[in-house]
Amino acid sequence: MHELISGRWSARGYDPTASISVDDVATIVDAGRWAPTWGRMQPVRFVVGRRDDPTFAALTGILTRGNAGWAPRSAALILVCTTEDPDDAKADTYAAVDCGLAVGQMILQAQALGFNAHPMAGFDAEAARDAFGIPAGQRPLVLLGIGALAEPSSLPDDIRARDEKPRTRLPLDEVAFAGQWGTPAFPELPTT
Ligand SMILES: Cc1cc2nc3c(=O)[nH]c(=O)nc-3n(C[C@H](O)[C@H](O)[C@H](O)COP(=O)(O)O)c2cc1C
Repeated sequence: MHELISGRWSARGYDPTASISVDDVATIVDAGRWAPTWGRMQPVRFVVGRRDDPTFAALTGILTRGNAGWAPRSAALILVCTTEDPDDAKADTYAAVDCGLAVGQMILQAQALGFNAHPMAGFDAEAARDAFGIPAGQRPLVLLGIGALAEPSSLPDDIRARDEKPRTRLPLDEVAFAGQWGTPAFPELPTT
């Protein structure tokens, strides 16, 4: 696996003094802009805050409790929005897929630039609509924190403890099938 993918993880222990340049944030957003898009619809929009600017301050204000403790340590916060259309389930579904693809590319671009990126659903979407004048037909779907990892010894205990938790995934033979659903695609490989 490419090291950008194997080395990716959702950290919380960011250095609250580390900054990120405008160029780097723009590159990360651009990586999202160039994600695949269903029917070339390009439904995804971004609200971008760098620490100490007013947009960043407003984005920290919409964090829900679980994220309010660590996410303000990010060097940048990017709210990723996509279209919603209650009358068109297909467009609605693939707008969300476009959003996920954009976020995935942004995470890897952040990683390539030496940062960690952590996606969040834990924010108040209605507060975001109010704060940024997000129009009807757009929905705020993911808030992406981008930060530089701090020295673990400098972190508050709760943040360090969460970052030290082991990361796990379902084994490959439980998620990848061939022939019939449930039949492992790679029976010859170890199951971990
Ligand atoms: C759509 C989505 C929403 C998430 N929301 C949050 C969140 O609100 N707060 C948080 O700390 N992590 C959030 N995460 C991160 C997951 O908790 C994390 O990806 C998962 O624990 C796996 O860890 P890993 O990314 O290090 O592999 C979210 C991830 C996704 C994909």
